[in-house]
Order: sequence, then structure tokens, then C-alpha cells
Amino acid sequence: MILFKKITDLRNWLESQRKNGKSIGFVPTMGALHQGHLSLIETSKQKAEVTVCSIFVNPTQFNDPADFSKYPVTIEKDIELLAAAGSTALFLPDVPEIYPNGRPESKKYELGYLETVLDGSSRPGHFQGVCTVVERLLEIVAPDHLMLGQKDYQQCLVITRLLALMGNAGNGIQIHICPTLREENGLAMSSRNMRLNEADREKAALIHQSLLQIREELQPGELAPLKHKISGLLSSDGFQPDYVELANAKTLALVEVWDGKEELVALIAAFLSGVRLIDNMLVHKATE
Ligand code: PAF
Repeated sequence: MILFKKITDLRNWLESQRKNGKSIGFVPTMGALHQGHLSLIETSKQKAEVTVCSIFVNPTQFNDPADFSKYPVTIEKDIELLAAAGSTALFLPDVPEIYPNGRPESKKYELGYLETVLDGSSRPGHFQGVCTVVERLLEIVAPDHLMLGQKDYQQCLVITRLLALMGNAGNGIQIHICPTLREENGLAMSSRNMRLNEADREKAALIHQSLLQIREELQPGELAPLKHKISGLLSSDGFQPDYVELANAKTLALVEVWDGKEELVALIAAFLSGVRLIDNMLVHKATE
């Protein structure tokens, strides 16, 4: 695996790969890698001849500075994991390399409704920061294939929108949304899990169990009682739920009364011992 810290070096190398007719797969990450990330590398290896992974803890997407400073950093282990997984290259820039003129504040991405719900409303500015860095990374890497994890469901929709906003630069990039990988107890793999102690890691599986319960108990009609019940159960087990929601799987429009047909995704965000965890599940596939 080749390690690049400078944009110019990475670009020159990518140019030579393209001249040799190689397609490029890209896996953007913030490091603290786990099997979920490695499964994205695996997908990239199937889709493209060359895989570039980036590790960059992007300061512009953290609305809470404490969250940024506590984000786990495990670079040496990450490098070993990526090399073993068969990533062709790692892009490991520092902050000035990505933001040479300081924090870019002027550009506003028109994300519309997507930015007003769920993580959009709970974490103001978060998706603008995600778009800022992802656009920058995509301009640098110019991949053919982009691998994203379904665990960040709303982020997948936001980045799909970003590609549309990028016009020609985004058109040629094919997004692959890869399934969430889970621990044995069902907990969605996430870098943030590293901040949980052993007991909380066990307890955190309740988020996945709650999603399964929603799928099990889902009935056409008013959804508020089910959402309140699940939120109450999480609270009584020591979580601070941020949201328990059911939404249209394509648009993320929140669904209050379900017709029994619309494609639905259940999404949960909850704090456990100060760590914000998210997870989601497609609970109903469209029948028409
Ligand atoms: O999902 C993440 O790890 C980050 O939001 C991403 C896409 C790498 C952008 O910083």
C-alpha cells in the first residue's frame, strides 16, 4: 500500500493509474477503522482496479468541539488493517493540506429538506461540513466508484445530493451503499464504540433490538405510539434518545401515519454515557 500525505503526489500517481486504464474506487473515512470500513474496501476491490482510502478527521463536520477532540485516533493500527485488507493507497492529509486557506465558510450546499431533519436538525452545520470535505476529497481523487456505509443513512442521501450538485464532476461517480456490519450482539460497528466501556457495549445492542422491535410491531396507521414506546424503553434503560423516527426510505420525509405500503426506514440516535450512537433499518420495502 502506498501512503500519500500530499495532494500533488496522490494526483500524479492517480494520473498514471488512469493512463494505464485503471478504474478508481474511493473509501473516505475518519480513521479508527473497524470491520465495517474494511468491508467497504472489499466492495471497492470488487468494483474498481485501484482502491484509495482516505483518513481525515474533518474538523468542519463536528458541531460539538468536545466530540471532535474525543474522536478516536488509531493511525498505526489503521495503516496495518488497510494494508492487510488490500487497499492500494492511503491518503492521509493534515488539516492545512485539505483546508489551505483555513476553514471554508462561504460555500453553502443546497441540501434542502435533508438538512432540516434528524441529524440535520440535531447537529447544525454537520452535513455542510461533510459536503465541504467530501467535495474536496472527490475533486482530489476523482474516483469512478464511491463506497459509503448504510449505517450513516442520512449521510448517504446527503452525499448522493452532493454529487448531483457537483454536476459534471459528480455525474461520473457511482455510489455503492454497503450494508451495516454488526458486532455479535447486533451493535452497529462504529468508531465511536471505542469510547464505550465493556458494559455499555453490551447495553448499546439495545438500539439494534429496538429497530428489530419496530419492524416487528409496525402496523399501518399512527406511528407515534410505537415511536414513543421505543423511546421510553431506551430512556428507561439509561439512554438519552435524540430521536426515534420512521421515514420514507428514499426522501427521509418523516411518516406520521403509515399506509402499510410506503417504503420505510427506522432511524434511532441516542446517547449512552455521553457517546452519540446512530443506527437504522429498512423496516418495510415498498409493495407498489
Ligand atoms: O462517514 C464518515 O466517516 C465521514 O463523515 C466522511 C464521509 C469520511 C467525511 O468526513
